[in-house]
Amino acid sequence: MPDSPNLLNNSLDPTDWSGTRQQGHAMLDDMFDYLEQIRQRPVWQPIPNDIRNRYREPLPENSTDISLVHQRFMTEILPYSVGNTHPGFMGWVHGGGSAVGMLAEMLAGGLNANLGGRDQIPIEVEKQIVKWTSDLFEFPDKASGLFVTGTSMANLLSVLIARTRQLGISVRQSGLTNTSEQLVAYTSKEAHGCIAQAMDLAGLGSANLRCIDTNEFHQIDIQHLKETIKADRKKGFTPFYLVGTAGTVNSGAIDNLSGLADVAREEKLWFHVDGAYGALAKLSPSLSPRLNGIEQADSIAFDFHKWLQVPYDAGFLLVRDSTLHQDTFASPAAYLQRETRGLAAGSPWPCDLGPDLSRGFKALKTWFTLQVYGTKKLASIIDNTCELARYLTHRIYAIPELELLAPVSLNIVCFRFLVSAKQCADLKMTKEDIDKLNADIVVDVQESGIAAPSTTWINGQQAIRVAIFNHRTVGDDIEKLLGVILCKGRARVALIKRHRLKSNELAIKPIV
Ligand SMILES: Cc1ncc(COP(=O)(O)O)c(C=O)c1O
Repeated sequence: MPDSPNLLNNSLDPTDWSGTRQQGHAMLDDMFDYLEQIRQRPVWQPIPNDIRNRYREPLPENSTDISLVHQRFMTEILPYSVGNTHPGFMGWVHGGGSAVGMLAEMLAGGLNANLGGRDQIPIEVEKQIVKWTSDLFEFPDKASGLFVTGTSMANLLSVLIARTRQLGISVRQSGLTNTSEQLVAYTSKEAHGCIAQAMDLAGLGSANLRCIDTNEFHQIDIQHLKETIKADRKKGFTPFYLVGTAGTVNSGAIDNLSGLADVAREEKLWFHVDGAYGALAKLSPSLSPRLNGIEQADSIAFDFHKWLQVPYDAGFLLVRDSTLHQDTFASPAAYLQRETRGLAAGSPWPCDLGPDLSRGFKALKTWFTLQVYGTKKLASIIDNTCELARYLTHRIYAIPELELLAPVSLNIVCFRFLVSAKQCADLKMTKEDIDKLNADIVVDVQESGIAAPSTTWINGQQAIRVAIFNHRTVGDDIEKLLGVILCKGRARVALIKRHRLKSNELAIKPIV
């Protein structure tokens, strides 16, 4: 006779809790050491081939002791991540995380809460964040909000809600086949690519996103926007959605949000603000006025994992009209029946506000971050990163080999390494050579392990892009960054010189 299943101990719980406790403490200590000693590590280092190849293994059938797996984490995984915890990391738009956020993640993991729905306090924690952000952005009390992976997802959800408003709830059943309207949306040429992707994923087509010209400050040109809307209406299109950006990804520009709110009101468009990182500048008394108009948005997307230093991922969408929000996503199902008492109480649930049914407890690490540090401290981090960007800008002005390529609005600085006109002529360097030189410098700097900027294109020129988000970054890190950029730039120019001389020699060598 087979054993009764409940006679077999098949639990994943440890048989030796005290050994597991010791192991856990060692793991925690390792991560505290990692954060405490982060400056002693390279920002980033290339992954050795043998280590990369270890991640092509077959699916493990048998058990391995946790201490051995932890050992592999320490030697193979921890040293080869992106490095955004390091104060020298200044690429793309990455937050630095914090010890508090890490500990909250551990608590959330232990609790293993599923925040799709049901009557549980973790959902009240998420609702608390909705209320806090709603107050911050001066949204009405009945506004709704939701944690998502990141702003790309939040932007997509907002396009879907705006689509419901324009075409009615029936669009959820009929799709776009029942409408003759061709919906068009508007944003600036500097907007993040995820807006076009959201139009694509929503079935509206990325070609129906009009990317409006920007002014010298990289902000949307409102006159051009109005003319484009007018022309579209004349051609029979239906304008429905307008996106302003609070902190563009390239240079940190903030669109004229109150000007955009006016256009949206006049034209009856859904006004969405992509505030992936910039929206939370609202916490800073000195920066907050620059976001005037954000309070008039229909929806705002932003990430707690960027400037607020919450560990990845913690994106968020705030929506003025909670009914429309719910109408866009709620999908009744027999197995999700709601009650007024018991576990199935508390409707509406977060799963009524987005496509995810299984949802982790992202709200906990955000709540911990806000509770432990408070908004004053977090705002001072935001202010300080902008101050460091201003410092870098002044240093760039003072160094003849560097040229600023875009106005510095917040904490992003775009510049390039210059070669003098004479040197360019002597070395026969073209515009493409200068662009390539700057791209190479960035890779060289990343490989040095000293700093990690990234690249972008500004007005057709390859730029070195420095985005200062990490709360650990100080003035000395900016000096180290400049030092290594100049050193790598000069070394590259010397290399080009040697190469040119050599090819000249070869050119005049007689062919025998
Ligand atoms: C302005 C802007 N929008 C959207 C995004 C996408 O955000 P996420 O990476 O959280 O999806 C970013 C990312 O940097 C951004 O800067």
